[in-house]
Amino acid sequence: MKSFLSKPAPKLTGELLPPGDKSISHRAVMLSALAAGESRFTNFLAAEDCLHTIDAFQKMSVSVKCEQRQVRVKGAGLLGLQKPSSELYLGNSGTSMRLLLGILAAQNFESTLSGDPSLSVRPMKRVTDPLRKMGAQIFGREDANFAPLLIRGSQLKGIKHLNVPASAQVKSSILLAGLYAEGETVIDEPSSSRDHTERMFKIFGIPLQIKGAQISVRPVKEIRAVQMQIPGDISSAAFFIVAACILPDSNFVIRDVGLNPTRIGILEVLKEMGADLQWKITGKHEEPTGEISVKTSKLRGIKINGSIIPKIIDELPILMIACALADGESVITDARELRVKETDRIKSMVSGIQSIGGIAKELEDGCVIEGVKVLKGGKVSSFADHRTAMSFAIAGLRSERGVEVDDVECINTSYPGFFEDLSRAASV
Ligand code: S3P
Repeated sequence: MKSFLSKPAPKLTGELLPPGDKSISHRAVMLSALAAGESRFTNFLAAEDCLHTIDAFQKMSVSVKCEQRQVRVKGAGLLGLQKPSSELYLGNSGTSMRLLLGILAAQNFESTLSGDPSLSVRPMKRVTDPLRKMGAQIFGREDANFAPLLIRGSQLKGIKHLNVPASAQVKSSILLAGLYAEGETVIDEPSSSRDHTERMFKIFGIPLQIKGAQISVRPVKEIRAVQMQIPGDISSAAFFIVAACILPDSNFVIRDVGLNPTRIGILEVLKEMGADLQWKITGKHEEPTGEISVKTSKLRGIKINGSIIPKIIDELPILMIACALADGESVITDARELRVKETDRIKSMVSGIQSIGGIAKELEDGCVIEGVKVLKGGKVSSFADHRTAMSFAIAGLRSERGVEVDDVECINTSYPGFFEDLSRAASV
């Protein structure tokens, strides 16, 4: 297992073109596999998670060609997927598993989804329960809560589902199943989660009704193929945004990054913490894109809770590093969901912050962090979680002795070029 020593750095300068958005890349492959005709995507995230989604569709006889960041998918049509000859192994990717469940529940064949040790202990009932209400036949440990999961395709019917706590994966899985279900499938989402599925449905020409907090879909006969440039991933950019804030002499710009309103919570929170940060939309497509500029900032502690949580769910680990170096106390609550991510991110982040000289304690649904001026440094475990690993690589830049992060290969699940981009920007 490869470890990485992140050494102190004085500044973050220059520019970053972040890798393609992970959520959008998954959905691009899934919807184009079900479309009629050939779809093409540029700036696709060719990282392990999305490659697992591609592999799953290839195993169902869909032609997908991925060369660097360009992907071509020859859609099989809504009913054209073929029974895979082996199980569909999805590695670490929760999005692949939860969204695929919605699609596979409605096919006329049997399939099995499996994953790595982390994915095999992540809860699936939040998806398998509503899908089973729709008529899906899904089998697995503890009443279909854990992978491997066997799916016996069947005729589905629409349901009304209350998406609480807000989860984009649950919503998306049900909406995908809704493309095949008799009648109407309705999702009520009092507090919104990322809306890429809704936007991608529009891009692929799938009629969707959105009335306030309610989203509904009916079955369609055909999905059109598309061409699309995938925006840069703000969740990957987040590591560099925080690095620029905490390093003493920074001036950094991020271009072609997705600025979907359901994903810019990280910018809003950092702004409230006092960050010297601006962003503007330059590309007004269905998925807005633009530019973020950020300079060294004097951050102050913050209370983070409530409806912002689903909008920063993947950024909370790196925000905890920002809090660990902010002036005063920060309190994060309503974030119990972090306990069932790629690892228990409350535990991994709090224990890591403590072991590099920060002050943090766990709450059942979050944590309390008291900021320090500079972290001492030391060794931390990534717990094989990509976002924990990248968060501590950033923490090392603002430490006295550096931070050694073990097992950093997991970063390939979402950001294969992370270390190259980091060494360029931080001149380390
Ligand atoms: C994702 C939704 C989020 C997020 C995950 C990607 C998606 O999960 O944490 O990394 O692409 O829909 P939840 O929907 O479980 O909050």
